[in-house]
Amino acid sequence: MNVDPILSDSLNDTVRALIQALDLHEPGEGGHAERVSVYAAATGHALGLGYDDLLNLRRAAALHDIGKISVSQSTLRKLGTLDEEELEELRSHALMAMRLVESFEWLKPTVPMIRHHHERWDGQGYPDGLVGTAIPVGARIIGACEAFDVLVSGSPWRRAVSEAEALAELRRCAGSQFDPEVVEALATVQPLIQPVGTGG
Ligand SMILES: [Fe+2]
Repeated sequence: MNVDPILSDSLNDTVRALIQALDLHEPGEGGHAERVSVYAAATGHALGLGYDDLLNLRRAAALHDIGKISVSQSTLRKLGTLDEEELEELRSHALMAMRLVESFEWLKPTVPMIRHHHERWDGQGYPDGLVGTAIPVGARIIGACEAFDVLVSGSPWRRAVSEAEALAELRRCAGSQFDPEVVEALATVQPLIQPVGTGG
């Protein structure tokens, strides 16, 4: 595959600019996006994905939560239980992200991965309740890597846990929330990953 390095850099600059915009709206989201992008690419590589699929996966993982730019800070930062309306607003981020990225022709391959990153292996996720391998593999990878990062990074709602504890939690939820094969692929690469950025 021929890649124009200058064009390629400008495309990646665009991805970074979008992440920075999200981080300005909700500090910490940028670091999360970068780390999930690194975890997802490594996991996808372990699963045997090719160059183009890995490039699109990396971009999709970086942009998976970009739709949170349309979610109010009061909902994103609420410490108590979200009410129905707030939950709906939060969940809308998957579709809002999809709408944002699909306006870029070169980001079209990321759309299914972004739309479905909150589906669950058992069909109990959103927005479409897809089950098992009907969920795009990139979305399954992003879902597991995002959960791993949230567990090890911690949040105002939950203390950070060790990487071993996070993997144990993912394995506990393999077959219900996560694709077991994806969880094991993440487990093989996780010790080798040096996360980029530290932004919360
Ligand atoms: Fe998300």
